[in-house]
Amino acid sequence: MVGQTFDFPSENCVFKDDSVGIFLYQMNCIEFMDILIKRYPEGIFDMIFADPPYFLSNGGITCHAGKMAKVDKGKWDQSKGIEKNHDFNVSWLSRCQKLLKPNGTIWVSGTHHVIYSVGFAIQQLGMKILNDITWEKPNPPPNLSCRYFTHSTETIIWAAKNKYSKHFFNYEEMRKLNGGKQMKTVWTIPTPNGDEKLFGKHPTQKPLRLLERIILASTREKDLIFDPFAGSSTTGLAAIKLNRYFVGCELEEEYVRLSKKRLEEYIKGNKIKLQLFDSLELRKAGLAGRIP
Ligand SMILES: C[S@@+](CC[C@H](N)C(=O)[O-])C[C@H]1O[C@@H](n2cnc3c(N)ncnc32)[C@H](O)[C@@H]1O
Repeated sequence: MVGQTFDFPSENCVFKDDSVGIFLYQMNCIEFMDILIKRYPEGIFDMIFADPPYFLSNGGITCHAGKMAKVDKGKWDQSKGIEKNHDFNVSWLSRCQKLLKPNGTIWVSGTHHVIYSVGFAIQQLGMKILNDITWEKPNPPPNLSCRYFTHSTETIIWAAKNKYSKHFFNYEEMRKLNGGKQMKTVWTIPTPNGDEKLFGKHPTQKPLRLLERIILASTREKDLIFDPFAGSSTTGLAAIKLNRYFVGCELEEEYVRLSKKRLEEYIKGNKIKLQLFDSLELRKAGLAGRIP
């Protein structure tokens, strides 16, 4: 990895590529963060994106592919009761806060099942809330019970480590993305399409476009990004695409496998593209065949 060396543990590292600066761990993120805090007590990450358990897989119903289905995203998504859920949020958020550099920021996404507890925990820990983004999904599944509005948004809280942080905001880039006008806090972005699920599905996979915007808004090239609940590693993919370094942590074997596939295929495809580009450049310079 050009110009940067990190002292990350080798145990439980299930995927690593030094050429792009990517490290994926299979373990409980609380334990992982405790190890990192010992090595980096002053913080190490420029930005953290976290998409924690929603605590909504509790026997409700939803609409999947036009049919009624039970909400069951997995054991990891079951509620343990309001107090225990909140304790869990304080526990992982406090570790994230320690691991942020002084000017680093954290983004946390969630539905109403979890986001109020996350917001309260962020305030209890003395972090500074910078914005709350409403991610609007233009294509939500219908509400089959017809007793509620159709759920079509998630909230993403953006916060700084503490009130002294001088956070980075890529204002100009966001304005450019928004056709020359200031970017607002409502972002309309479709949920991932088939192209983003080529190698398998994660029940709460985030769209690549959403993560790209978040990363562009709050980091510079070569910054180090962490995702404690990596899932299918959408954050990791967006990070390599935008030339940032990434550390991810995921508990479930199935999602680690999916992550590895997504990351490997992207890195492989990119290397082929770069080789093609290089040979084209060499041919243009009349050097083809002279450099091994
Ligand atoms: C909401 S999903 C994240 C989805 C991800 N943003 C994506 O785009 O694929 C949360 C993930 O956290 C994982 N998880 C739950 N508890 C965890 C823990 N304590 N440590 C690490 N991962 C955990 C789950 O297995 C699940 O894949």
